[in-house]
Amino acid sequence: MTTCSAPAKIYLSGEHAVVYGEPAVACAVELRTQVTVEPASSTTVISGGVPTRIESATYIIEALEQIRRVHPVPDVSIHITSDIPTGAGIGSSAALTVALLQALSIEFGVDIDILQIASMAYDVELSVQGAASQTDTFISTMGGIVLMPDRIFLSHLECSIVIGDTGMRGKTSTMVAKVAELKNTYPGVTEHIIKSIGVIAHMGVVLLEKKDYSGVGRLMNINHGLLESLGVGTSSLSQLVYRARDAGAFGAKITGAGGGGCMVALTDKPEDVIKSIECCYGKAMVVKPAREGVREE
Ligand code: PMV
Repeated sequence: MTTCSAPAKIYLSGEHAVVYGEPAVACAVELRTQVTVEPASSTTVISGGVPTRIESATYIIEALEQIRRVHPVPDVSIHITSDIPTGAGIGSSAALTVALLQALSIEFGVDIDILQIASMAYDVELSVQGAASQTDTFISTMGGIVLMPDRIFLSHLECSIVIGDTGMRGKTSTMVAKVAELKNTYPGVTEHIIKSIGVIAHMGVVLLEKKDYSGVGRLMNINHGLLESLGVGTSSLSQLVYRARDAGAFGAKITGAGGGGCMVALTDKPEDVIKSIECCYGKAMVVKPAREGVREE
């Protein structure tokens, strides 16, 4: 029997623009999905204590298919527990896929290294979702705070990260398609917005290395405005973003695809930010950056 866990992630900058080749900065956070695998007479999935029909477990089916292309993995029982809200834009599917692939590779002695786990997990996401960047799966595998797509590891964050969940859910593929439609209709203006998001990511790297979190926060605020102008904001997301800023956060923005899901704030007053977000019906939590990516438990 083998158990592995993998972390969630937030974007400090760059979501959506990364789809068009611009840089993004993402950070693994200490919310984890644990996956236990052991050989069994048939393949079964229990998630959060509840038996799940294997036919509906699309990421699991695809992960098994991908790993079986390189190694004859037998039927397995799979147990999943998770602290990561699903479909909220903080990488729950990547964490599940990465933890599962690593647990299978250890349990059955599959000869693949950690970068191959990241790349196989990306193939799984691409196949299930139809569109994906390598950000989620790379960060969940490797941990840390990383400039993508260059894979440059940055200094660890030394302020608090607060995630606010609107409780609503947007679909990544729908939001990516929405931005693509806007770009086709108004290329002149949209391309500038996308490029500006890329500039923010590059500037953010310099400020992060100086630990100038008030500067990083200001850039996050601009980035939020640009994401709104791309049409991926919602009133609930913006309400939580403004509540976080009003409570003294360095900055706050949508994280992930938007259309619902989560926002993120950097702050040195996490309690105040949480209280302020929760006044507005959002669910908030303070999360630590995860230095470690996937690991055996
Ligand atoms: O909401 P998430 O965690 O699926 O993030 C989506 C980020 C996008 O840039 C919108 C798409 C992608 O695959 O990079």
